[in-house]
Amino acid sequence: MEIEQAVARHYAHGSLEEAILDALAAAGKDLQHLTPKDLAPVDEFHTGGRLATVAFAQEFGLRPGMRLLDIGCGLGGAARYFAHEHGCQVTGIDLSPEYVNVTNVLARRVGLDDRVSCELGSALALPFEPESFDAAYMLHVGMNIEDKAMLFAEVRRVLAPSGLFGIYDVMRIADGELSYPVPWASGPESSFVADAATYRRLLVAQGFEVLKERNRRDFALELFQQMRAQAAAGGPGPLGLHIVMGANAGQKVKNLRGDITAGLIAPIEMICRVAA
Ligand SMILES: C[S@@+](CC[C@H](N)C(=O)[O-])C[C@H]1O[C@@H](n2cnc3c(N)ncnc32)[C@H](O)[C@@H]1O
Repeated sequence: MEIEQAVARHYAHGSLEEAILDALAAAGKDLQHLTPKDLAPVDEFHTGGRLATVAFAQEFGLRPGMRLLDIGCGLGGAARYFAHEHGCQVTGIDLSPEYVNVTNVLARRVGLDDRVSCELGSALALPFEPESFDAAYMLHVGMNIEDKAMLFAEVRRVLAPSGLFGIYDVMRIADGELSYPVPWASGPESSFVADAATYRRLLVAQGFEVLKERNRRDFALELFQQMRAQAAAGGPGPLGLHIVMGANAGQKVKNLRGDITAGLIAPIEMICRVAA
């Protein structure tokens, strides 16, 4: 509970809906006719943003009509993308009341509120019946969750037989102190970065088989290069994750980049399935 309160505090902004709409207007977007693509620079809160979500979807095996659970959906960018581009029905859950509100507001604004909805709740006590979903995913969420065995048990419970579980988390590659703040935590009290072997062991123990695993370090490093070039050429413009991450956004990204570059952590994808 204490961890969850610290996590919710870390992500609290205060006037996020307004800040996003102002930035969209400043970027010349028509607020009455927004598309999921317009929102992508600001609503995909993980390494690589929309590009990473598109790549993840290619590995994940989505089908139209699939019932998806987005665990720690944040502002719902991936949920809207999967609903819009793949015809899925997506339910999100998140600890942050403000993020839940923004996810639902943005889904309405792009006309996807019949296919995307988000509710307030914890990944460790999912408010859903057994076998409610065909697939579940979490993008950059596991770093905030200490009890991954409980998390995976909950995901397993709400998945249908042979259901898919996709993960894209920052994982530990080597020992060494991480620098804070990072985008997911102000300090070590709400940061629980684990290595891929721990994920695999706990997933298998909870009844999953791991089908695929992919280290996205090179992709991330290339992206950081592009961000630096963009910054040198005058900054990222009004729309970007700096709106979500707040005043110390630059430091958070710098620390993340530093620790990925140093080989301590890396974004890693895993695609799993409920074992037969
Ligand atoms: C770095 S953000 C990623 C958001 C989103 N998945 C994305 O990629 O855009 C992590 C999110 O996980 C949520 N989160 C962390 N721990 C959680 C938990 N125990 N239950 C539900 N949501 C959680 C946070 O509130 C936050 O929205």
